[in-house]
Amino acid sequence: MSILKTHDLKYAYPDGTQAVDGIDIEIETGKCIAFVGPNGSGKSTLFLLFNGTLAPQQGVVYVQGRPLRYDAKSLREVRKRIGIVFQNSSDQLFAPTVYHDVAFGPVNLGFDEEKVNNCVTQTLEYLGLTELRDKPPHHLSSGQKKKVAIAGVVAMEPEVIILDEPLSNLDPSGASEIMELLNELKHFGKTIIISTHDVDLAARWADVVYVLNRGQVYNSGHPSRIFADRALMENTNLKLPTIVETFREFEARGIAEGHAPMTLLDLMDSMESPYIGVRCAVADCTISKDQKVGLFMQEGTIVAVSDIQQRAVGIAMSDAGAGDEVLVEYVNGSLTPNTGRIHVVQIPRVIEGGSKNVDIEGIRALLDGTSFDRVGAMGTSAKVTAKKAEIQTDFEVDVIQSAMLSALRGLDCLVLASGGMAELVKQRVDERNHNGCRHIECTIEKI
Ligand SMILES: Nc1ncnc2c1ncn2[C@@H]1O[C@H](COP(=O)(O)OP(=O)(O)O)[C@@H](O)[C@H]1O
Ligand SMILES: [Mg+2]
Repeated sequence: MSILKTHDLKYAYPDGTQAVDGIDIEIETGKCIAFVGPNGSGKSTLFLLFNGTLAPQQGVVYVQGRPLRYDAKSLREVRKRIGIVFQNSSDQLFAPTVYHDVAFGPVNLGFDEEKVNNCVTQTLEYLGLTELRDKPPHHLSSGQKKKVAIAGVVAMEPEVIILDEPLSNLDPSGASEIMELLNELKHFGKTIIISTHDVDLAARWADVVYVLNRGQVYNSGHPSRIFADRALMENTNLKLPTIVETFREFEARGIAEGHAPMTLLDLMDSMESPYIGVRCAVADCTISKDQKVGLFMQEGTIVAVSDIQQRAVGIAMSDAGAGDEVLVEYVNGSLTPNTGRIHVVQIPRVIEGGSKNVDIEGIRALLDGTSFDRVGAMGTSAKVTAKKAEIQTDFEVDVIQSAMLSALRGLDCLVLASGGMAELVKQRVDERNHNGCRHIECTIEKI
């Protein structure tokens, strides 16, 4: 069943501006939804209608199938289930300390003191904010403020978390951290709704995209359909995601084929067809079919093969250093470099005791015993564990994709993952393997 649905929703501000003009949406539980659209298209207004902050002049909002009512009791109930993080964190933070700010919602919901203390402490721990507990929120950086505002909503344990432009004013690492957090919340079953101008982000993150224009839904669907449609993007003043632009250019040159990719990994897969037709830039010579030649590949090497019957097959290597490393081979259309493996170690989640319950020595021994080329940490308790064990990580954002991209380059990866996220890594790798892509071995170990 849908968790949130609207029917013919209309809202005009007192000055007559028709901000929302007949919107029908239906959002399934546990999905990540992105609303994109130019400034003034009605995203923020729609979000305020979702949890009853604004009441529509026409139409209905349904929360889990029940029409939203606007008496004080019903509104309190709905705000417990649907939390909103405003675009400007300063609008949301006003208490003297971070602790009191995060406690505000739970206190208002009528939780007793012990429950408030427990849920605030746990939320701060979960979001890595424990050290800021007694600081005044207005002294924090914008990234920290955003996290505190999110903590205030998460502490109320809502089923749906709405974030209006969650990445505005954040630097790239702050933005990545917030996105990782949203992924983690999604993994725990929350429904996450964001608005954003960032089509690159929406493309790789969302399960469903709604494109708003002039207070109406212009189009909606899976990102791979919406963002591959140049006309649709242009009509709503949005640009194509960079990954799609890149793919189109590769496609035009015959290097990539298939559906428009939404992630870097999809893009690499679209270039893995056995015959990659490329004009041979470097080598053009004749070799016999059975002649063995070596192929030296460095990390990051791009190899392109062109088959012109049995003659003149060129392998052009970037990063090859001196030109004499350019080699040729007739490979009959299949040149498959070895893939690395991904070994996932499951770390207990924060609520299961987190890194407190982890055998730090055991983890260190694991690293000493085998050599991994890359190490990633996914989820809060995994990151804390890596820090405690003094393990240098190579990636803490986009971990699944980074591990797979590394494996496809022949590198062995260790991924520390919190709780059920470990299964998620394996599931994603298996899904990809079943799609006929180059196989990556993935194992899980619970500690
Ligand atoms: N308080 C307000 N009073 C009058 N008009 C408003 C108010 N807030 C927003 N609007 C107008 O409503 C329309 C939708 O705005 P908004 O929901 O903020 O869009 P978005 O979040 O997509 O930028 C815009 O035309 C905007 O100017
Ligand atoms: Mg807005």
